[in-house]
Amino acid sequence: MRLLITGGAGFIGSTFIRYALSHITAERLVNVDSLTYAGNLDNLAGVTADPRYRFAHADICDGAAIEAIFAEERPDAVVHFAAESHVDRSILSPAPSLDTNVRGTFVLLEAARRHNVSRFIHISTDEVYGSLESPLEADELFPLNPSSVYSASKAASDLLALSYFKTYGLPVIVTRASNNYGPYQFPEKLIPLMISNALECVPLPIYGDGAQVRDWLFVEDHCRAIHAVLDCGRVGEVYNIGGNRALPNLEVVHRILTVTCRPESLMTHVLDRPGHDRRYAISSAKLTRETGWHAQVEFDDGLTMTVAWYQEHHAWIERVRSGAYRDYYALNYGDRRDQLFRARAVAAKPGGTRGMARAERSR
Ligand code: NAD
Ligand code: DAU
Repeated sequence: MRLLITGGAGFIGSTFIRYALSHITAERLVNVDSLTYAGNLDNLAGVTADPRYRFAHADICDGAAIEAIFAEERPDAVVHFAAESHVDRSILSPAPSLDTNVRGTFVLLEAARRHNVSRFIHISTDEVYGSLESPLEADELFPLNPSSVYSASKAASDLLALSYFKTYGLPVIVTRASNNYGPYQFPEKLIPLMISNALECVPLPIYGDGAQVRDWLFVEDHCRAIHAVLDCGRVGEVYNIGGNRALPNLEVVHRILTVTCRPESLMTHVLDRPGHDRRYAISSAKLTRETGWHAQVEFDDGLTMTVAWYQEHHAWIERVRSGAYRDYYALNYGDRRDQLFRARAVAAKPGGTRGMARAERSR
């Protein structure tokens, strides 16, 4: 098998490359990545000497570069991770999400069609189903109802990928995973941000009331699920991949403070994310029924391993949190706590509840 991975310098892609080199019989593994702020070749330091592995520095929106890589590498299967993956960044600056997630996916689908790949795994997210009231759980036939630019762009790319199966017979499979966590995750997402802030003893910013619920999936469980889909998923199908571990954000942050032995006083409520989804919930019953896969890592074990990894990789955190990260942090979090107080003051005035929503929308 000749594998082409996109976004392999990111969090899940790099974990999948390390996993694939030891668990999948591949004669070749090409990693196509443009190295955005989220791409980090340090994540792959352990695999660069492997003769099966090659890094190709390219933007998936660059049709000519992608065509050249496909022509040279002749991949049998594509596993497409590359994306602008962060909701908050898609709110601050929507265009990159549309470019990479929609146009970049289109460029790859076209190349895969021209080169007759035998599997195209499109890595997507449970966010495409939108926010679900308890006790609802989305199966793969649940309507798509994305809330953010990020999730709307992922829903668009899911539908585009499936249209290539229906229209051209391209052997596409879409996977939709819940929130991943684990080593090497960029500290803009909830768990690595809270761990790295806790380790530094700086405030942990909780959006709104912190009662939002996410379903946590250890990243290696996600990689095993993708392997199962690559081996025996049915083309033209969608598979949900959930961690079966739904927790409110406040509970996740409490546990991080416990594992890092830091005080609860570090928790700081800040202005909510605009359009913030309250609850994600998916059923992975189809994947389990068809492949036998189920999540194996218990949340407390996965969290303890993850905290230990961040404690042992101080230099990695320092490097990714320098420069542009600080600018992003200032932009997204700057005076967010004060904005919450101002919005609450406006809401407390007679007829003022709309002020709160306005403050969130104006970010
Ligand atoms: P990430 O942000 O850590 O990594 C994204 C990678 O894609 C980076 O290496 C980046 O350099 C690369 N990339 C971005 N734009 C590119 C472009 N135009 N051309 C080439 N490379 C580009 O993301 P992640 O958290 O590892 O997520 C990977 C995939 O999994 C995404 O498609 C995301 O939507 C999906 N997903 C993520 C989660 C999660 O919790 N992180 C959950 C479900 C699904
Ligand atoms: O559900 C899958 C999705 O999970 C993936 O598709 C996305 O790529 C990934 O980023 C993630 O999206 P979320 O928005 O759920 O993840 P994030 O880690 O950004 O936030 C998780 C929850 O924590 C969410 O309710 C917002 C909240 N949060 C997040 C940050 C960064 C905070 O309260 N404070 C924060 O500083």
